[in-house]
Amino acid sequence: MLKIESLNAAYGRIRVLWDVFLEVNEKEAVGLFGPNGAGKTTLVNCIVGLLRPISGRIIFQDRDITGMETHEIVKLGISLVPQERELFPGMTVEENLRAGANYIPHARARMNEAFDLVFTLFPILKERSRQKVGTMSGGQQRMIAVARALMSFPKLLILDEPSVGLQPSIVSELFSKLREIKDHGVSILLIEQNVKQGLKVVERGYVLENGRIVLQDSSANLMNHGHVKKAYLGL
Ligand SMILES: Nc1ncnc2c1ncn2[C@@H]1O[C@H](COP(=O)(O)OP(=O)(O)O)[C@@H](O)[C@H]1O
Ligand SMILES: [Mg+2]
Repeated sequence: MLKIESLNAAYGRIRVLWDVFLEVNEKEAVGLFGPNGAGKTTLVNCIVGLLRPISGRIIFQDRDITGMETHEIVKLGISLVPQERELFPGMTVEENLRAGANYIPHARARMNEAFDLVFTLFPILKERSRQKVGTMSGGQQRMIAVARALMSFPKLLILDEPSVGLQPSIVSELFSKLREIKDHGVSILLIEQNVKQGLKVVERGYVLENGRIVLQDSSANLMNHGHVKKAYLGL
């Protein structure tokens, strides 16, 4: 459903991505792993239309979306949980969730259905729907960011390092939610530095280093790959 071909990207004269390729199939969960500064967020920025690549193509459901405006891309069914979570701390849980659907006509028309979906996935958010987001724990805020991204009924959900700063038990809880989301038929592109946990969620993964894809394989093979074990799993 998502296909990235020979993508090259830069900030001004600073080149960040070289000939990057990546594919996510229908109903698949795929990982993108790599160290800080590898270019993971830059790739995400290209996919969601925040950065125009120098060259290459991004195809989503047989449509070339390279260089399209972000709001158009969201309408087509790609939703992002950004690395900077960008919640409204002074607003309630419900208001933050509403913001995930408000600007997308087809989602706004199904707002109640969207609330049912995210409250089923995250019952705690239903209990706390009137609470101000800024008063909630880091883990709960992360759940809100994921729930907000789901309010637009995405076909593809992209998460940029959702586990950062969370304690291990919360990471496990969040990642088990990702498996549930996948079971609802949503494809997932999970960007992570926590490769050990990430590999338990995805079926396949790519490793990005210095702006280049250096490895791609099934999760089982990546888990046993010498470079992955040494550089990412601490084995
Ligand atoms: N807005 C920007 N302007 C200039 N350079 C940037 C910008 N954002 C990121 N970079 C640089 O691009 C490289 C890749 O960054 P990024 O995509 O954020 O990596 P990652 O998400 O894998 O940590 C880094 O060297 C970073 O310093
Ligand atoms: Mg990043």
